Amino acid sequence: MGIRNNLNNIFLIGFSGSGKSKIGKILSRSLSYKFIDTDRYIEHIKKKKVHEIINDEGELSFRNIETEILHNLEYTKNNLVVSTGGGIPTIEQNNKIMKRSGIIIWLYASLEIIKYRLNKTKEIRPLLGNNLRSEKVEEMFNKRQKNYSIADIKINTDLKDPKAIMEEIEGLINE
Ligand code: S3P
Repeated sequence: MGIRNNLNNIFLIGFSGSGKSKIGKILSRSLSYKFIDTDRYIEHIKKKKVHEIINDEGELSFRNIETEILHNLEYTKNNLVVSTGGGIPTIEQNNKIMKRSGIIIWLYASLEIIKYRLNKTKEIRPLLGNNLRSEKVEEMFNKRQKNYSIADIKINTDLKDPKAIMEEIEGLINE
């Protein structure tokens, strides 16, 4: 591993509902890496849900917290698997931090699959609005594709179970 540096951290990026948290958790366990989910970490530190932070303080404030968290993770102390919030790659500084700290893996899922998964979860995604079938999801999905394309590796997760995706990632990073 280490396409462009010697650090072994793994960043999972992708749209809401692409499976970053689930895959990150099992991947970290299998590799014996430490696991960080940026949304959960922010909620733990701020003692507030992500949707409350965005609604109360605004998206910009949330983005600044994300960058601060990403900047302060101790990449050299542990091997980390970091499951990132879907908007992290929209900020250039975040991409610089991730690029110099490890390998970036885009968990891609098609719009149909994303919509299906988002409709099944209870998590509130304020930037996607209340009606997940709305054009908002499609618009943001299309806009985000170029942000996620900064990844070193893209994995299509459609119709694959988490274990198969995890094994695919392990195979790729061990190449
Ligand atoms: C966001 C995605 C969310 C969360 C926040 C903003 C985004 O994370 O960070 O609601 O801008 O795409 P998930 O990708 O885990 O849904």
